[in-house]
Amino acid sequence: MKERTFIAIKPDAVQRALIGRIIARIEEKGYKIVALKMLQVTKEQAASHYAEHVGKPFYTSLVKFIMSAPIVAMVVEGEDAILGMRQIMGKTNPSNADVGTIRGDFSPEMSYNVIHGSDGPESAEREIGIYFKPEEICEWKTMFEIVKEYNS
Ligand code: RTP
Ligand code: MG
Repeated sequence: MKERTFIAIKPDAVQRALIGRIIARIEEKGYKIVALKMLQVTKEQAASHYAEHVGKPFYTSLVKFIMSAPIVAMVVEGEDAILGMRQIMGKTNPSNADVGTIRGDFSPEMSYNVIHGSDGPESAEREIGIYFKPEEICEWKTMFEIVKEYNS
């Protein structure tokens, strides 16, 4: 099923100049980026985004970290894109993340795991709403979609 997921290149990856390499992995998979911007996360956005983690030992440092430098926020669309992006990202703890995944290849430790991706359809919709207005999501056709239409 065609899905949209919220993806954020986290502050550590922005500071380590990994934006281009991370976006390339999304594009080379064939997913479609339908919204993209760099922004400084506000306290309100951080609290809303990480509401599920309130009270956990890592909550305060997580919120501080996500506001420590800009993020690159994206809406990524594709067939089963929520799970697909989680697979491309790799496991939360990079020590367990497979080589070839973004976290497996670029992240040295759990608190600096370079990318965020929604973990289900409800969180995707909620997170997209925290960071994007509806009019910031672009309608366009990839070459792949044009070829599929031509062949159908
Ligand atoms: P994300 O939300 O960033 O895509 O990561 P995730 O679903 O794989 O992991 P989640 O459980 O949602 O945790 C959010 C972020 O909090 C940090 N974290 N630290 N025990 C810890 O020290 C710990 N657990 C989680 C990670 O940066 C994780 O990405
Ligand atoms: Mg999560």
